Amino acid sequence: MTQQTSLIDRFGRQVDYIRISVTDRCDLRCIYCMSENVRFVPRSQLLTLEEIVRIGAAFVALGVRKIRITGGEPLTRNNILQVFHQLGRLDGLQELTLTSNGTQLPRYAHALRRAGVKRINISIDSLRPDRFHAITRNGEIEKTLAGIDAAIAAGFERIKLNAVVLKNRNHDEVLDLVGFAIDRGLDISFIEEMPLGIIDEHDRAEAYYSSDLILADLRKRYEMYPTTESTGGPSRYYRIAGQETRVGFISPHSHNFCDQCNRVRLTAEGRLLLCLGQEHSLDLRRVVRANPSDDRPLRDAIIAAMQLKPKGHDFDLTAQPVIFRHMNSTGG
Ligand code: GTP
Ligand code: 5AD
Ligand code: SF4
Repeated sequence: MTQQTSLIDRFGRQVDYIRISVTDRCDLRCIYCMSENVRFVPRSQLLTLEEIVRIGAAFVALGVRKIRITGGEPLTRNNILQVFHQLGRLDGLQELTLTSNGTQLPRYAHALRRAGVKRINISIDSLRPDRFHAITRNGEIEKTLAGIDAAIAAGFERIKLNAVVLKNRNHDEVLDLVGFAIDRGLDISFIEEMPLGIIDEHDRAEAYYSSDLILADLRKRYEMYPTTESTGGPSRYYRIAGQETRVGFISPHSHNFCDQCNRVRLTAEGRLLLCLGQEHSLDLRRVVRANPSDDRPLRDAIIAAMQLKPKGHDFDLTAQPVIFRHMNSTGG
């Protein structure tokens, strides 16, 4: 039976979206995401695939309508299709989506589409092989490009590219990236880097390149119109005259969107994070393991956790990060 309780926090925001990280591992090492000598969580501490599905189902029973599978790189987790198949069958779930770096999509794209995934987001920060290799520390752009082609061939309803824009690394490629998206009929979002975890590769304040600067760059070539369209996430979308492509801006620094927040995150170890930029959390792994055959304590814990959801992040690029988890262990 579907329970219709909706999840409302102390600020009256309704949570109808959960981002579930299925692994903190990744085949890339993006410079803004991880430190070079990243240590991954031992596999024994991860939620099992069954536990992931059980927690996802509990959220849907409580009114969640959208699940995004993230990581790390979600498609590097063994037998991950099982999770898509089982979540995809849940009554009440309106959207099951994925954020991926694309490298495994040649293998998985068709199966994901068949499992009911309609939209996917693929990260690509540069179209130049040498830069792509430098930003991802070891990545080969051909693999991500092959993944994008595979996603297009699989017929997803919408594919969105994500690019984290860093000054003097890739800020001069925003026009090329939009051109690439237009040529293929894809959407694209530009993301301001967030200070999650300590990195020593670059100074995040120096690398800051705001969404407004990107918009001004794009307006040199394209007529861009703001829209009120939403995909349920934080992107503010613009349309380009005469094109299918939407250009989104995810601007945690320059246009704070916390008052509209509708989401929570589950880490690969089963920690429910109430905000990307704060540490407020609840250990759902302990709850599911203590109650293997009764979902009521799990649902009660989720309802109670809404009281912990903070007002928003306090990101400050000029200070040392106060959040020590990197994005890969947070869940994109
Ligand atoms: P859709 O709107 O569902 O297409 O997705 P999205 O753009 O929200 O998700 P995606 O996985 O593509 O994430 C893009 C970027 O937005 C990532 O860098 C996320 O970490 C960031 N993001 C997503 N949700 C939040 C949030 O609640 N707070 C902040 N600060 N960033 C977020
Ligand atoms: N700041 C902003 N975005 C980040 N991502 C990873 N780390 C960071 C960060 N520190 C992005 C990835 C991917 C998405 C899931 O999160 O590039 O597009
Ligand atoms: Fe992997 Fe995504 Fe992190 Fe890059 S940003 S290292 S692709 S998890």
